[in-house]
Amino acid sequence: MVHWYTQHPNAPSPPPLDKLSHVSLIGNGNVSLDVARMLLTNVDVLRKYDVPERVLDVLAESTVKHVSIVGRRGPLEAAFTMKELREMINLPDASMVPLAPELLQPSEGVPLTRQQTRVLQLLSKGRGRSTFYRSPAGLMVPSSENTRSQLSLAHTVVDPATQRAVPTGETSTVATDLVVTSLGFHGEPTAPYFDPGLGHLRTLSNRIVTNAGTTLRNVYGSGWASTGAHGVLAATMMNAYDVAETIVNDRMNPVEGTEAVLNPDPSLEELPEEVVHGVRERNIVEYPDWKRIDEEEMRRGQVRARLLLGLSAHKTHFQRFFIGV
Ligand SMILES: NC(=O)c1ccc[n+]([C@@H]2O[C@H](COP(=O)([O-])OP(=O)(O)OC[C@H]3O[C@@H](n4cnc5c(N)ncnc54)[C@H](OP(=O)(O)O)[C@@H]3O)[C@@H](O)[C@H]2O)c1
Repeated sequence: MVHWYTQHPNAPSPPPLDKLSHVSLIGNGNVSLDVARMLLTNVDVLRKYDVPERVLDVLAESTVKHVSIVGRRGPLEAAFTMKELREMINLPDASMVPLAPELLQPSEGVPLTRQQTRVLQLLSKGRGRSTFYRSPAGLMVPSSENTRSQLSLAHTVVDPATQRAVPTGETSTVATDLVVTSLGFHGEPTAPYFDPGLGHLRTLSNRIVTNAGTTLRNVYGSGWASTGAHGVLAATMMNAYDVAETIVNDRMNPVEGTEAVLNPDPSLEELPEEVVHGVRERNIVEYPDWKRIDEEEMRRGQVRARLLLGLSAHKTHFQRFFIGV
């Protein structure tokens, strides 16, 4: 779903939002809240942001009226963060089915963190729709197009010893038109230099480390690929800036050493074949071409902004990345 609305090169085709009324999101991390906000925000509000035109066209036709966010643990263990919860709860065109008051009562004698206290306060007056202590157990898809699918949910409690969700044996069903899983992200174990122990690439000062423990020349790791999927957007951006600085420094100050020799030539041919292949396959362009794309985006953004809003230019979205300095 996220790949679809960010127009990622591997994006699936758009969901048939013009035929749906109820969407169930499994998992209650920030990605889940982002998806809910995209579905519950007026498309004219989204036009002011960097949302691709083709996505806006689909959202404009959306008939989605209800979004259920299903978390297998309770509000105190939810993976979302305050800012994202507040933004969802304050959506002007959406309102929340009130949560059962007992869900918002912390267990006696259990001290709450500041974040947990704020989450409970927000949820108690909030708007948005969330279901806690439920884990997906099955989906019955009807044969007729006019009937809804039935999402079967196992009721859960949090085991105080392990903090894991355990089923109580009870179940219930939710009638829904689309189920979207948003369960977090894991590195691709077959990717070159993936470290199974870490669950992501192993890096040292932003440079990729091989299984033999040596640093590769001109190969860097950045973002979730090298840190694992955690942290808010700002943390990932800061990491990207840091990696870019390492690349520039390596380029400017090549160091002689053993395996860790940094070659001043950043051409792709210097990289191991599987990395080069991966880079080309994923449609990565080099800096001069990225500059051309950027100029074209700015030009189109200006045309659109003049047409639509009469405001200053904003960029449309090309899904391309660049390498090279
Ligand atoms: N605005 C922002 O800055 C922003 C936006 C989007 C994402 N992010 C960040 O990106 C990272 C990834 O976010 P994310 O939302 O993809 O992942 P996440 O924070 O790891 O949340 C994953 C959710 O999926 C649930 N889950 C996992 N396996 C499940 C299963 N088998 N059955 C039922 N539920 C299951 C988890 O429940 P349990 O907790 O019970 O495991 C959790 O609620 C996070 O650090 C997030 O903060 C930031």
